[in-house]
Amino acid sequence: MTQHIDRQSIGELAPPNRLMLTPGPSSMDPRVYRALATPLVGHLDPWFKGCMDDTQVLLRQIFQTENRITMPLSASGSGGIEASVLNTLEEGDEAIICVNGVFSDRMAVIASHTPAKVTKVEAPYGKPVDPEDVRRAGKGKKIKIIGLAHGETSSGVLTQIDPFRKVADELGALLIVDAVASLAGVPLHVDRQHIDICFSGTQKAISAPPGMSPITVSPRAEEVFRTRKSKVQSWYFDLSTAMNYWGKDRLYHHTPPISLIYALREAMRLVVEEGLEARWERHRVNQLALVAGVEAMGLELLAKNPADRLATVTAVMIPDGIDDVTVRSQLLEEFNIEIAGGLGPVKGKIWRVGLMGYCSQKPYVLLFLAALEKVLLDQGFRVPSGAGVGAAIHSYTQARPEAVGVSR
Ligand SMILES: Cc1ncc(COP(=O)(O)O)c(C=O)c1O
Repeated sequence: MTQHIDRQSIGELAPPNRLMLTPGPSSMDPRVYRALATPLVGHLDPWFKGCMDDTQVLLRQIFQTENRITMPLSASGSGGIEASVLNTLEEGDEAIICVNGVFSDRMAVIASHTPAKVTKVEAPYGKPVDPEDVRRAGKGKKIKIIGLAHGETSSGVLTQIDPFRKVADELGALLIVDAVASLAGVPLHVDRQHIDICFSGTQKAISAPPGMSPITVSPRAEEVFRTRKSKVQSWYFDLSTAMNYWGKDRLYHHTPPISLIYALREAMRLVVEEGLEARWERHRVNQLALVAGVEAMGLELLAKNPADRLATVTAVMIPDGIDDVTVRSQLLEEFNIEIAGGLGPVKGKIWRVGLMGYCSQKPYVLLFLAALEKVLLDQGFRVPSGAGVGAAIHSYTQARPEAVGVSR
């Protein structure tokens, strides 16, 4: 039955003003909103071609690369996984995917859509995969790609890239790195670390709207694309033809989300104005304060080893007797703060607090800790009064003052 809609009842769009301390999307700087609201031009307009040039210059800076193929895909982060895997794998190939959470597992799932043989090398949630396990899994085999998530958002775990590059070199494999949750928040040098394909998402530490997946491809991976025996199993994500538009010819491939490109350009201008290293340090210092705060409140983290913790996403264990959803709903309703719950096997067991890009700021860390204390007390969890905020303030006193400021 067709539902009758009273046109008067659909009001003007007025979303609540949330503080998105989630693992993405993150809240955005006002300058990014302003860029989104600027006039549309055509995707082949000469002026827009200049805007594309700027976007690629900024992307190369943020990825720390000179790769020719460097562009924002018109897709969310999952599109970056899809493009990386589909462009490299074909019949007869073997892939090793390091799986330590939902998103690294997604890479294995997407790889399993190709005719290649896929081996998963796994680690439990809260830990990175051991590169030795990958070395063992690949021994004596011809491995085409090794894939991993630099930041595994589902567990708040950081994987060190260099040991995997070494294994990939020994096996003659390309290294594919999912930097959706880490780019612009955690140190990453695509060229220096010899990463063959690296992709990200715009909605995380870059703090632009969701919907684009920046990607960069090394000359070695480009050569692999050129020598494929079969067609890429996707027209949309075939990076060689997509580069007809993002390469020097600027030929029509598909109509890109022009307003999102404006917003991404502005968000990246903010990254570069702040300086990548300063931004990495800001993320590090704010997470240290958050961790000090939650631990002082008697909560534990999923990633036990501090070196494994991802600066952009902190996974906090939910204490016994406390209901996941009740706490998150109260944070949202009473404080306008959104955090995320766990996914997969850790659903209901962890909260994930994102301090990404614009959201990685001292006032937000302190507000969150105060709000969490109030909510936990209401739920009957005894928290030493002001302990979280106090420990975070103490942690900030150890940091250089310029590292804790606002995002610009
Ligand atoms: C590490 C990682 N990879 C891939 C994705 C998928 O990105 P999207 O949801 O934008 O498709 C996410 C999303 O959270 C992620 O955190």
